[in-house]
Amino acid sequence: MQVPFVDLQRQYSPVMERILEKTADVISSCRFIGGEEHDLFLEELSAWWGVRGAIGVSSATLGLYGALKSMGIGRGHEVITTAHTAIPTSEAITMTGADVVFCDIDPGTFVLDVSRIPTLITRRTRAIIPVHLYGQPVDMDRLMDLAREHDLLVIEDCAQAQGARFNGKMAGTMGHASVLSFFPSKNLGGIGDGGAVTARDPEILEYIRMFCNHGRKKKYMHEFEGTNARLDNIKAAMLRITLPFLDEWNSRRREAAGWYHENLSGIDRITLPVVDERCEHVFHLYVILTPDRENLASHLRAKGVKTGLHYPSSLNLLPAYKHLNQGPGSFPVAEDVCARVLSLPIFPGITREEVDFVCREIKSYYAGNN
Ligand SMILES: Cc1ncc(COP(=O)(O)O)c(C=O)c1O
Repeated sequence: MQVPFVDLQRQYSPVMERILEKTADVISSCRFIGGEEHDLFLEELSAWWGVRGAIGVSSATLGLYGALKSMGIGRGHEVITTAHTAIPTSEAITMTGADVVFCDIDPGTFVLDVSRIPTLITRRTRAIIPVHLYGQPVDMDRLMDLAREHDLLVIEDCAQAQGARFNGKMAGTMGHASVLSFFPSKNLGGIGDGGAVTARDPEILEYIRMFCNHGRKKKYMHEFEGTNARLDNIKAAMLRITLPFLDEWNSRRREAAGWYHENLSGIDRITLPVVDERCEHVFHLYVILTPDRENLASHLRAKGVKTGLHYPSSLNLLPAYKHLNQGPGSFPVAEDVCARVLSLPIFPGITREEVDFVCREIKSYYAGNN
């Protein structure tokens, strides 16, 4: 049996014809930038998300950048985020001219450890970017209390957590601004790069909209310099078709996570994902910890199972952040977790047989390596 890590063709096959028709319509209309599909998608997305308005952006990376810039964050400021995330989160901070301040993670859930933030706050701190990693939200109640206490802004990075909830509240509705990614393998993926941003304050929202469209409301009337970070009409047309499936796809991911949990509980060499009981996890990724992940991954590869690494290194140890001088030992939990993570196949449409097969191979690996 071959088990792919992600299978988008399987996921989209029931709607592929509609996607092809709709995108062909957009091409025939020649409305490539802006347009009806773009506007309707953002209305529908806002309704699903439970927010007052959303802006389509060309990627979550630029969405985070636009949100930070629109809040006046730049040179001389510090922004706190997790040491365990995809690099776009911290890249966006650096792009504004502000300094990235990494924070260690919770050893159970692997998301930002909010209890460590107070020691990182200085006179220069302006914002915090919690990342709802793997599909599980950060403790947003505690984080927002802290932000209020220290007068800090919070931008939720929901790239991996469309539809996740914390204490019943949708990820992306708790911070001052929030960003989604439609990178193809995300829970709601597009035909190429894309993302969306929302903000609580209508003025900030409007500023982000303008920032992502060269600082203008009207053609050639540039009120400030921004950038080009727009979501294309054709990508929005496809997302309008798939958005109604997102909740069901998230349920399927949760179901597959349940199968893994059931099958893999009790193997002492691996640690299974911990779900905070206040969270509704959407399992963008199903990540286990094992001390011998390279050998396990190659055993699985030999048996036809693809796995992933999210992420092989905490950000502080990457060459990109050498200048911060935060070598090994700076973020012990994140560093240890990154050395042991292994992502197992998960996507809507993965079958029980496939998950059982992956689990059988994991068990057989450990049976032979004890
Ligand atoms: C946590 C996180 N933040 C931000 C991003 C950036 O998203 P995009 O690829 O849409 O720029 C990603 C994508 O990998 C991500 O996983």
